Amino acid sequence: MDSTRHQRPTAGARDGQGTAAEQDAELFWERHYRARRSWAGVNPLLAETAAPLRPGAALDLGCGAGGDAIWLARQGWHVTAVDISTTAVERVRERARDLGVADRVVTEQHDLARSFPAGRFDLVSAQYFHTPFPLLRSRVLRTAARALRPGGLLLIVDHGSTAPWSWNQDPDTRYPAPAEIAAELDLDPARWSVLRADMPSRRATGPAGESATVIDIVLLVQRTAR
Ligand SMILES: C[S@@+](CC[C@H](N)C(=O)[O-])C[C@H]1O[C@@H](n2cnc3c(N)ncnc32)[C@H](O)[C@@H]1O
Repeated sequence: MDSTRHQRPTAGARDGQGTAAEQDAELFWERHYRARRSWAGVNPLLAETAAPLRPGAALDLGCGAGGDAIWLARQGWHVTAVDISTTAVERVRERARDLGVADRVVTEQHDLARSFPAGRFDLVSAQYFHTPFPLLRSRVLRTAARALRPGGLLLIVDHGSTAPWSWNQDPDTRYPAPAEIAAELDLDPARWSVLRADMPSRRATGPAGESATVIDIVLLVQRTAR
C-alpha cells in the first residue's frame, strides 16, 4: 500500500497569497526542479552522521530531489521530506514508491518561512538549505532544534565554497562560519550542545561529471534536555 502522504500547509498556515518575494521563491524553486529531472544520491556528511545511529524519525528540510530522504528511508528511518517545490516533493514521493519505501516517507510541501511540519524527530537534516530569496533561516533552524526529541540531532551542512557547477556564482557570496551559524541559532546551552562545528573539504562531482574540491560548513547540535 502506498501510504506516502503529500501535504500542503493547512489553510491557516498561509495568509492570503503571500508576499511577492515568497511567491518568487516558490516559483524559482518550482522552475528549478521542473527543468531538471536528475537524481542525486545521499549527501556524504549526512551519510557519515546518520550511518552509526539507530533509525528513528527524521526530518529533511529543503529535501530537493530527495537523495537524502530516500537513503534515510532505506536505512530504516521514518522520514518527513519537506520542500517549497511541489514538483520536488512529488518526485520524492514517486521515488519512494518505486523503491518500496513509501511506508517510511511522508512528503510535505512547505514554505518553511511560513509553516513547519508537525512532529518530534530524532534527526533533523538541513543540507545546503540555501536560497537566493530573503529567508529567516535561523528562525527555521531554531524551530527545527525545538522539534528534536531529547538526544536528537540537528545536522546543518552549508556550502563553504562555490562549486563551478553551482547555480549561485555570485562572487560576493559570504559563507558564514559554523560558529556564526551557532551564534545565530542562539540555543540555550542547558538544552542543546554543539557536537561538531568545522569546515571539511572533499572532492565533489558536478552534474556533467566534472570534479572539484569543495568546502562544507558543518554544524551538528544535540538536544540534551527537554
Ligand atoms: C540548494 S537546494 C538543496 C537541496 C537538497 N537538500 C540537496 O542537498 O540537494 C535548497 C533546497 O531548499 C528548498 N527551499 C528553498 N527555500 C525554501 C523554503 N522557504 N521552504 C522550504 N524549502 C525551501 C529548495 O527548493 C531546494 O530544494
